[in-house]
Amino acid sequence: MLAPHHIAIVQSTLPLLESAGSALTEHFYARMFRENPELKEVFNLSHQHSGQQPVALFNAIFAYARYIDNPGVLAQAVERIAQKHTGFLIRPEQYDIVGHHLLETLRELAPDAATPEVLEAWEPRTDSWRPSSSAAKPRSTTRQKRPPAAGAASAVSAWRRSVPRAS
Ligand code: HEM
Repeated sequence: MLAPHHIAIVQSTLPLLESAGSALTEHFYARMFRENPELKEVFNLSHQHSGQQPVALFNAIFAYARYIDNPGVLAQAVERIAQKHTGFLIRPEQYDIVGHHLLETLRELAPDAATPEVLEAWEPRTDSWRPSSSAAKPRSTTRQKRPPAAGAASAVSAWRRSVPRAS
């Protein structure tokens, strides 16, 4: 359940996100691959170089913040992206790493705006993307060569929790 003041704070960061654009996620990926180079194996690096993946991630983050008070709008997109992550066998601890680098990116790119209150409002959002233990079975994709790690779980449920459907 999102606290109203957290919703308001996340919404207040929309102009900041908009002005940063995909520079935000480019910084994020550069940071993450520098500090966690093992994740280079998980991603298709040509999608990084073409700018495709930083733009896709930025759009997802921006849409999340934009519709935080009306998340049903994103339900279909969230479902589609979450199914992809399920197929990639993304592990729960990898969501921690991504969440950490997203918050550090905010801190580094916007040190004045990234107040403790702003980071606190965003932190549960990144945390809630973590897959739950009630894993859905991953779909068959070409990326399933690696064996599923213990606790590999469903990004579908994670995304569902991050963007609850409007009732
Ligand atoms: C904060 C939560 C996350 C969000 C909002 C997010 C968002 C996205 C989006 C929007 C896409 C593009 C989907 C498409 O092609 O339609 C994507 C792709 C992808 N994501 Fe995530 N993601 C998250 C967490 C993660 C984590 C933790 C990992 C693994 C460390 C990961 C690995 C991938 C991979 C491998 C792709 C495919 C892109 C490629 O081929 O390089 N994601 N993600």
